[in-house]
Amino acid sequence: MNYNKKTVMDVDVAGKKVLLRCDFNVPQDKATGEITSDKRIVAALPTINYLLDNGAAVIACSHLGKPKGEWKEKLSLSIVAKRLGELLGREVIFAKDIVGEDAKAKAAALKGGEIMLLENLRFDPREEKNDPAMAKELADMAELYVSDAFGTVHRAHASTAGVAAYLPAVSGLLVARELEIMGGALADPKRPFVAVLGGAKVSDKLGVINNLLDKADTLIIGGGMAYTFVKAQGGSIGKSLCENDRLEYALEMIAKAKANGVELLLPTDTMASAEFSATAVGTVVPTNAIPDDMEGMDIGPDTRERFCAAVADAGTVVWNGPMGVFEFDNFAGGTRAMAKALTECGAVTIIGGGDSAAAVEQMGFADKVTHISTGGGASLEFLEGKELPGVACLLDK
Ligand code: 3PG
Repeated sequence: MNYNKKTVMDVDVAGKKVLLRCDFNVPQDKATGEITSDKRIVAALPTINYLLDNGAAVIACSHLGKPKGEWKEKLSLSIVAKRLGELLGREVIFAKDIVGEDAKAKAAALKGGEIMLLENLRFDPREEKNDPAMAKELADMAELYVSDAFGTVHRAHASTAGVAAYLPAVSGLLVARELEIMGGALADPKRPFVAVLGGAKVSDKLGVINNLLDKADTLIIGGGMAYTFVKAQGGSIGKSLCENDRLEYALEMIAKAKANGVELLLPTDTMASAEFSATAVGTVVPTNAIPDDMEGMDIGPDTRERFCAAVADAGTVVWNGPMGVFEFDNFAGGTRAMAKALTECGAVTIIGGGDSAAAVEQMGFADKVTHISTGGGASLEFLEGKELPGVACLLDK
């Protein structure tokens, strides 16, 4: 996959109408609909400001939630238009539709230095079908397409990929940074390259494990997914998370690590508990001898030490997925130790979105790592080495 794509800096934007795909899929309070984190809106500001300061007329667009082609008032982007206006300190014109009369009229009247936002793209059933007619209608409002929705580049939708058939397409500054740092780490990492994977399920990360075993020097596996590997090797894991249909796969990956000379580190001790609750207190047990009535909740102290020592000498670290049930303070120790090790190791440190990004932010380490990806599913597919439709469609440098 070629990550060397043209960016907004490589084209003339002055006086141009620019269709800017953002990922404004922000979390909302279930009861009030209020935005609970504006991180994704903030992440889009550098590109928006660059375009506006350089005289472009910006037609921003995004999806929000999963309305599945239906008009759902609760998922209107009007709330994002308001927050974006506050953050930019300027008016954000809001279109009441996507490619309808209101959007077209407002786009036609838009001047350089002005910004408008279209209504939720996924209110139109054609968006997720990558319908060429919708892509063309979006493209017809603009002269240039800028992709800055990193969190959505793994989707082949009308606004993320289809539109590039009708307009010159370049990346925004956020996508450019994600490609440069994550792409750089995968293509030409500073070694040793240590990959750290965690989270509940092996099945979520099948392709990631496989791809990283071709690239990393060390692969650390913690979190719930580690127990499948331990059981595959004959360990007793009690009530711990386990995917019995992935035992064979785990063995294949252990063999692949050996064949490729990759050091594969798995937990050797575990904080286990008979009860899955915030008040439960863990008991340290060997990971391959967890009592029948207990489940693994976090990596144990010896494992923390081994995992953190491997990270200490790294040149590059990519981390995706927590080491334990970090939502419960009693079982957040392994994830916290890993986050801290990343901030102290002096390597290029990349947090691949999702829960590990949330953990690093929640624990106060966010400004001490090189990069936290804004993508969840997109970062995973990136780490899998898959072709990302929202990147593949952009012009090469
Ligand atoms: C995300 O939140 O990961 C992106 O906005 C993509 O959303 P989706 O999984 O609904 O396509």
